[in-house]
Amino acid sequence: MVENIIVTDARTGKKYEIPKEIVMPDNLTIIDSRTEKEYAIPITNGTIKAMDLRQIKVSDDDFGMMTYDPAFMNTASCKSKITFIDGDKGILRYRGIPIEQLAEKSSYLEVAYLVINGELPTKSQLDEWTFHITHHTMLHENTKKFMEGFVPDAHPMGMLVSTIGALSTFYPDSRDIFDAESRKLQTYRLIGKVPTIAAYCYRHRLGLPYVYPDNDLSYPGNFLSMMYKMTELKYKPNPVLEHALDILFILHADHEQNCSANVMRSTGSSHADPFVSMAGAAAALYGPLHGGANEEVLRMLKEIGSKDKVPEFIKRVKGGEVKLMGFGHRIYKNYDPRAKIIKETADRVFEVTGRSSLLDIALELEGVALEDEYFIKRKLYPNVDFYSGIIYQAMGFPTDAFTVLFAIARTAGWIAQWQEMLLDPEQKIARPRQVYLGSDERDYVPMEKR
Ligand code: SDX
Repeated sequence: MVENIIVTDARTGKKYEIPKEIVMPDNLTIIDSRTEKEYAIPITNGTIKAMDLRQIKVSDDDFGMMTYDPAFMNTASCKSKITFIDGDKGILRYRGIPIEQLAEKSSYLEVAYLVINGELPTKSQLDEWTFHITHHTMLHENTKKFMEGFVPDAHPMGMLVSTIGALSTFYPDSRDIFDAESRKLQTYRLIGKVPTIAAYCYRHRLGLPYVYPDNDLSYPGNFLSMMYKMTELKYKPNPVLEHALDILFILHADHEQNCSANVMRSTGSSHADPFVSMAGAAAALYGPLHGGANEEVLRMLKEIGSKDKVPEFIKRVKGGEVKLMGFGHRIYKNYDPRAKIIKETADRVFEVTGRSSLLDIALELEGVALEDEYFIKRKLYPNVDFYSGIIYQAMGFPTDAFTVLFAIARTAGWIAQWQEMLLDPEQKIARPRQVYLGSDERDYVPMEKR
């Protein structure tokens, strides 16, 4: 006997009596015990649309079912083709290309092109891309006056966030977000100017004169020049450090829907311009649980002080007193593939800079933690921030500039995520719902009666 079921088409509300065996093969059948009604919710890409749950009601005036997911632990906010991560297998790919191959064979500017445009560039495309970015590294001279307003020991991330936002006032044309040529121009400006702002922040802190971009140098080489050039006529970057920095930029270019990418998408969804959207994203990155962790790792290693103090620190971590910064990840429940590559890069840097004693403490920490049930049970492994700070410190960057380096690299990813959101017909202004548990209606109480 053919069994029919009643299926409601969520798009039209129309009900259909369909033989069960031909109903859409991928369905989640929900039975609401409150009403004993049955619903067939279509499954696509391993997900159900939250809006398809709204039909589940207990009465006609019921708003309908929502999902509750603080911190979006199990909620896809978008469809994306930019970055793929398999947290269990420790896989990271930009546009399908494994991070290991890009770190070994590519350059940051080429990876930025790939992440933003979807394909590796041809030689002429890369030359044009590099030319335009190189010729957008200068900042409006007024930026200097703006930055002079910061106190000498202002945190460089506070300066970076503010100055990226301030760039919005220099480029009102950036509000033309649906014009592809305008987006391309803002992309050149952001990838070109963020390193210049970062270097200006560093020079401001030291009371040193700003160094103008040197168009003869590579992207990382020019950044090192703007950071470290002193009285020499032309700065010559150390090729080993220049290449190591380029690899670090590649590794930090994008990481799908992380906290700061979510801010970039959410701010951009109100059609704010890319400069103020990126200021918000950089602000999110500044947090110690996100991009600020590399700075905290250095502080933690210095606080531990020596290898023999590691067991005592691990005890404090297991007691819940402190976190092992640079460990753990929302997605990676295996070794962060970027941490592996950074660890390999560290050896090449130390051949030039000399070995950092902090590396020995970090290696001891990793060794002890990876054997300890507390970390194994929670699947806590080194993430991208665990070793990056040690390299940055060896290269002479001040600890509080580490997150600035992360932001330089992530500029490409934020732009890619922002643009993909804008061009996605399913996206609109981000506006989550809530579960209201506050007071019912009540009257204002005059002061004398409180
Ligand atoms: C980045 O999202 C991205 O992709 C980010 C990023 C990117 O490229 O954009 O990869 C960059 O932000 C890397 C993460 C850098 N942050 C840190 O290194 C800070 C230390 N790590 C943690 O704060 C934590 O691991 C998070 C924030 C990274 C992830 O937190 P989750 O997924 O919310 O996990 P959780 O806090 O719920 O932890 C689960 C358990 C808890 O223990 P119990 O309550 O179950 O007993 O693991 C424990 C946590 O206490 N835990 C840690 C720990 N991280 C998690 N315990 C000690 N040390 C840690 N570092």
